Amino acid sequence: MRRGLLITLFGMLMLSMSACQKSKADDTAPLEEAEAEAVTSNADVKTPEPAAPVTCRSLNIPTYELLIKDLSALRCDSCHNETFAWKGIVLTQYDAWQTYVKPIRNRIFYNLLTQPLEPGEQEIFLSWIDNGLPKTDADCTAKK
Ligand code: HEC
Repeated sequence: MRRGLLITLFGMLMLSMSACQKSKADDTAPLEEAEAEAVTSNADVKTPEPAAPVTCRSLNIPTYELLIKDLSALRCDSCHNETFAWKGIVLTQYDAWQTYVKPIRNRIFYNLLTQPLEPGEQEIFLSWIDNGLPKTDADCTAKK
């Protein structure tokens, strides 16, 4: 009878202890989650920025869309357009620059033009041609 009581008391003690532990675990769980979250967002802040995409602009290479089209309009198109084209060379379209790249480079390099280019303009054309005539800013991604 006495022993039975002891066992019962012991049992109750264990139960209350485990209940206590359980409630303690319940209390800390959200805190741990919050901490884990804090660590994650901290890690996000510390993660270095992904490398900026390589563009023609970032490599300082002129492109047809951003520069050459306008420079051609200013320096070439007046004598090489759809209605009037010296030697049949129309330079208002990108493709023509590819087609005639050799004679064009020669003309520009030696500045053998009816209206000679400024040194800066000559440099821009040559840099563009020698970097493979990139059309858009994304066309330099393969290079580096
Ligand atoms: C003021 C008019 C004029 C302008 C501007 C002009 N050209 Fe010409 N271009 C000519 C004439 C005239 C010829 C043909 C006679 C000759 O060969 O010089 C010619 C011929 C050419 C040829 C043919 C070369 C060959 O070997 O057959 C190319 C390529 C050319 N031009 C490129 C250009 C480029 C690129 C520009 C702009 C940077 C330009 N031209 C601006 C008048 C012009």
